[in-house]
Amino acid sequence: MNKSCKFCWLISIALAVIVAGMAYKFIIVGNVVKSNDGRTALVLEAGERDLFLKEMRGFLEAVQTISEAVSNDDMKAAASAAKAVGMGSINEVPATLMAKLPLELKQLGLSTHKAFDDLGNEAEDMGDGKIVLKKLAKLMLNCTGCHAGYRLEAGTATK
Ligand code: HEC
Repeated sequence: MNKSCKFCWLISIALAVIVAGMAYKFIIVGNVVKSNDGRTALVLEAGERDLFLKEMRGFLEAVQTISEAVSNDDMKAAASAAKAVGMGSINEVPATLMAKLPLELKQLGLSTHKAFDDLGNEAEDMGDGKIVLKKLAKLMLNCTGCHAGYRLEAGTATK
């Protein structure tokens, strides 16, 4: 192996380390700091925060509509409220915001959207209110779990 190729190898290895470091930062860690209340705080810019919280209010509206619909035996309304916050709604999240979210939070978020789709299908197919309610209670463990571990913080700082 000649000298210049050794140099190529060194560059390649350095680049691989940088790429791995960036992947670790953007895919796994996200843009986070430790917050005073012990939770992990996501550091987002104002617009990203607004979008994130808007999605959250959409979740809460869905939970409200579904509980009311089930209590009225209106499975059609329950299904459409659930699907409105299903996997179809995640296209609205920009990649720049995605890159700031830790992997665990992304997984929890995705599994929540999936669980709403699943609940919607259940309401549509079987229409058993008790099962739909059970699924709602179970998926809400994602809400409480994520809220216990994470909060938002305004700012642009990276760790
Ligand atoms: C993957 C994490 C995650 C999941 C899952 C999640 N949330 Fe949130 N939610 C958050 C974070 C982080 C905040 C900001 C809390 C803070 O800063 O104290 C938040 C805030 C909210 C807010 C406040 C909105 C506002 O305008 O201030 C509501 C309402 C809410 N979530 C409802 C829900 C409901 C209902 C579910 C489940 C169906 C849910 N969330 C699931 C992470 C999550």
